[in-house]
Order: sequence, then C-alpha cells, then structure tokens
Amino acid sequence: MSHEAPETPISANINFVTPEIGPDDFLPFTTPCLDQDVLDSAMACLKSGWIATGPRVQQFESDLKNYTGAPHVIAVNSATSGLHLALLSCDIGEGDEVITTPLTFVSTVNSIVHAGATPVFVDLEETTYNMNISKIEKAITPKTKAIMPVHMTGLSVDLDPLYELAKKYNLRIIEDAAHAIGTSYKNKKIGSFGDIQIYSFHPCKNMTTAEGGALAVHDEETAKKMRVMRFHGIDKDAWDRYGKKGNQALNVIAPGYKYNMSDLQASIGIPQLKKLDNYNAKRQELAARYHEAFKGWSEFERPGNAPYDNENPFHIYAILVNEGASGLNRDTLMQALKEENIGTGLHFPAIHLFPYYKSTYGFKRGDFPRAETVSDGIMSLPLFPHMTYEQQDRVIFALKKIFKKDK
Ligand SMILES: Cc1ncc(COP(=O)(O)O)c(C=O)c1O
Repeated sequence: MSHEAPETPISANINFVTPEIGPDDFLPFTTPCLDQDVLDSAMACLKSGWIATGPRVQQFESDLKNYTGAPHVIAVNSATSGLHLALLSCDIGEGDEVITTPLTFVSTVNSIVHAGATPVFVDLEETTYNMNISKIEKAITPKTKAIMPVHMTGLSVDLDPLYELAKKYNLRIIEDAAHAIGTSYKNKKIGSFGDIQIYSFHPCKNMTTAEGGALAVHDEETAKKMRVMRFHGIDKDAWDRYGKKGNQALNVIAPGYKYNMSDLQASIGIPQLKKLDNYNAKRQELAARYHEAFKGWSEFERPGNAPYDNENPFHIYAILVNEGASGLNRDTLMQALKEENIGTGLHFPAIHLFPYYKSTYGFKRGDFPRAETVSDGIMSLPLFPHMTYEQQDRVIFALKKIFKKDK
C-alpha cells in the first residue's frame, strides 16, 4: 500500500442502516458495515423458510472461491472452528508441535491446544507485528507438523520463504487469515495459493456474517475431510439430505463437530463480499490519512510496512505507544481517549504471558522480547469503512490535545 492519502476521498457508497454516530456520541473503534442490501438479503433468507445450512451457504462458498481464487472453500461458524478443523484435517494431534506467533488473538493458539498439539512460539519482526520468518527454522524439531502464521492487522507475512521451509521440512502451512480477506502478497491474493487459509467474519472484521468464517483449501483430500468434520462426521450435508433430490441415508465416518455456517449468516455475507474491495479501499484511504497526520510524531510508532510488494486492507490501524516520549503508557492513553469519547482496541496482549500458557508451558516474560514490547504498547485507533473524515479528525484532534500539540 502507498502511505499517501488520495487527493479526493474515495466514496464507500454505503447506504448505512445502523444508528448514526453523532459528533457528541462515543466513537467506537469499529462498527460493522451493514447496509440496505444486507437487510434485504437477510429478510429474503428468513422468508424463504430455509435458514440453516443450505443453498445460500453454497452460494457464499462459490462467491468466496471466485473472490479469493482458492480451489475449495468451506464456510464455518467462526474462524476459531476453522482453525481447529484445519489442524484436525492435517491429522495434527497429541505429540505434535505447531509453530506460531505469540502476538495473535488467543483462539489461534487455543485451537492448537484443542487439537491436542503443543504450541511453539517464535518472536516478531522488528518493524511489523508479524512473526519473524527467519527465526522459524531454529524452532523446527522432529515433532513439528505445521506452521501457523497470522497476517496481523491485514499485512501479509513473508510467504515465499515460509513455503520454502514447509517444502524443506514437509510441514503444513495453516495461515490465520482472520484479518486478511482482500490482502495481497506480491500481487497474489491471500487464499489464491498455498496450503490452508482461514478467514473470520466476526463483526469487527473487514466483512461480516455476524459470526462466521471460511477455510480456503488447496487440495481435494483435505477439503473432503473438512466438509465431513464440519458437520458431525456425516458424509452429507443437511441440505443434501432434506432437499428434493436428497437421500435421507447418513453415514457417520468420524466423530465430527458442529461447525457449519447457516444460510442466515451466508445471506449477510453474500452482499458484503460484493462490496468488500470498495470497503477495503476506504480503509486504506483512512489509514493513509492517519499516517499523514502522525508524520514526525515521537509519542507512538505508526504501523510499519513490509519490504516486499503487498496490499494491506488495514483490518486495524495499530500504533505502538512510546512511553518514554509520550509520558503515557498504552493503558493511560486508551483511558485518555475514552475521556475524549473515543474508543480504541487492544490487538493483542502476548499469549505466552497469559496465566494458562505460563503455567502449562513454563513461558515467562523475557522469552519473546519484541512480542512483549508490542504487547505492552499496541493499541488500535478507530477505523471502519463508513467512518467520515469528521469522525477521523475527532481522533486526530483528541491525540493532539492529549499530547499538547494543539497549540
Ligand atoms: C488473528 C485472529 N485469529 C482468529 C480469530 C478468531 O475469529 P472468530 O471470532 O471468527 O472465531 C480472530 C478474531 O478476532 C483473530 O483476530
């Protein structure tokens, strides 16, 4: 992405249907982009009489295939379920190790534990919030089965060296792409190549299905396992069984899970996906505006970019507070913004410092220094496609006021 704001604002063309945020209202750090098309689509689904998994999920999967370029897409009820399903479908379990980042939402790492495997962390790069690919090889042992990178904030990790390592050591790559629908790496969309990618459609994400997720998969055999394990281990979906041409007979071939997406969720996703590129362009425009406004500030670092060609749709605009220069730590800055009626997000505290992970795996402060610096200082500023320049200026002015730059 270029860090320059365009001269004329991009129109997101959003006929927004949720309550307007007035100049004196609390400005949340994000809010889903729901328009009349979403309402119409959800209403049509409700009126159709079929709200569980059915034709709209099939439609959504097909639309996602077209959008991402992935050969197989499997819709699920959350990215968390998708991460678990991905690990199970790669036959990862007891005694196996999975290498990942300590700076992610906890579900990335919980899913490794749910599969029965052991999470192994490597520290972050110095300029982005992504895991440091050059540290991975040292962490590989005979027990390593997979690497689980996270495209933090929407910025792609360096995938070429990662896939080279996977080839060399015969490892699976399960990309946590919860932030990365619409992200590109070297002009290729995340999901258009590789092994497995998992998207999230939680309301905070770049598009939503209320709750939901999807797996992009590149080999038929893994995709088949995922379809079966997504729905109780039954080798047919409900729609296939109850539809006109369906066959009621069912076979349970594994003790599967209840991870399927409903048609009602898909009905929200279908119109959102059509507008995703437009929404993402608007996010990029707003991120560039923040970037310009904070040029030369020492109180916090702006999000860094990677040296390789990439397109970051800015799921979040996360700054890193420099306590020495600002006189405030992250928590006091978040509080000061709240007093200015502005919400912020915390993405994320480092996983290895949570009590469960410390006591179970013996992690301690000092193990991953860069992740700890980021964990202590990171916070996300308000950013959503229907955010107006006036709303964004409230954030910029509030920060100027807090850091006494308004004189
Ligand atoms: C990096 C990351 N991975 C996974 C998830 C889980 O997504 P979901 O809420 O759809 O399960 C999130 C959600 O915030 C996330 O940020």
